[in-house]
Parts: sequence; structure tokens; C-alpha cells
Amino acid sequence: MSTWKDSIDIFLSKDQLEARIQEMGKELARDYEGKDLLVVGLLNGVFIFMADLVRAMDMRLEVAFMQVASYGGNTISTGEVNILHDLERPIGGRHVLIVEDIVDTGLTLHKVRNMLLDRQPASLKIATLLDKPCRRNVQVPVDYVGFTLDDHFAVGFGLDLDGKFRNLPFLGVYNPS
Ligand code: IMP
Ligand code: MG
Repeated sequence: MSTWKDSIDIFLSKDQLEARIQEMGKELARDYEGKDLLVVGLLNGVFIFMADLVRAMDMRLEVAFMQVASYGGNTISTGEVNILHDLERPIGGRHVLIVEDIVDTGLTLHKVRNMLLDRQPASLKIATLLDKPCRRNVQVPVDYVGFTLDDHFAVGFGLDLDGKFRNLPFLGVYNPS
């Protein structure tokens, strides 16, 4: 019997993801100890990773979200980055950590990073669950990386293909055959 998950090969299991996110959370809590931290998640893809990451950070912090769209419904970037929802409060003088699901061409983070830098935070760093360095078009400094990926299209754990598969509890590689 065929199911909706048949075209997905498991790439990182729920347990592997959980273990790595716990490590990242500990590292971040150490690095930001005693600082006024605002964790900014980029929706939609980040919603699952962000929920796990901030719960792995044993420290006082605040969360906020921005919604950005860069894909036109397929696996190739349109190269255009639209801000659909901006932060509601100023970030001047605050320590800001941007959290992304995956860094691909780097265009999204390049734009968001420059936008937030203009608002003069005390510091601005980037954490991502996945990094595909082989696909980079613009250089962006990524400070915390969960896993490095080759040139595959990842789905699950928040990441989508045309809006689907975000609810898979693991990370998979889309493999239609
Ligand atoms: P970038 O602007 O090319 O770096 O792309 C960043 C955004 O593209 C991410 O936040 C994702 O939403 C999406 N994206 C890039 N690669 C993948 C992938 O392999 N699977 C799902 N979404 C992806
Ligand atoms: Mg995204």
C-alpha cells in the first residue's frame, strides 16, 4: 500500500535531531549567559526547530518571529526575498540570534541580516538547523550549524516541499522514483 511518505528517505531520525538540538541549546545558553537575548525565528520553516531549540536553552530569553518567503512553490529558489511579517518591537542595543531552518543560497539571511543590522543590535548571530554550503550564492556568517547537508532537497521537521511534509517528525530527503 502506498502512503504519503513513500517518496521520502529518512536522513536524520527524531533521536539524532533531538540529541543535536540539545547540544546546540547548551552551547547557546553558555555563550549568551547573563545577556538580554532575543531569539528571532524565520517562519514558516523554523517553527519546529525553534520550539525545540529554545526549550533546550536553560536561560532567560525572549522569542519573536519574522515571516519571509523566498520560494515560489518548487525546489528552486526564485532569488527574491519578501518580508511578509516584520518584528513588532525595536531591537536596538539587544543581543539578537536569528534562527533559520536551512541556509541554502544565503539570500534570505543576507537580506534579513542586513535589515536587522541597520537597527543596531548589541550583537547579531545566526543559528541554523541545516546548512548547504555547496549551494551558497552570497556569503553570510553562520555561527551555529546543526548539520551540514550535500545538495539534496530536505523535507520534514518544519521544512516543506510546496507547503507539504512539514509535519514529518524526522528529516527526510525528497526522492521521487
Ligand atoms: P536561501 O535564501 O536560498 O538560503 O533559502 C532559505 C530558505 O529556502 C529556507 O528558509 C527554506 O525555507 C528554503 N529551502 C532551502 N533549501 C531547502 C530544502 O532543502 N528544503 C526545504 N526548504 C528549503
Ligand atoms: Mg524557511
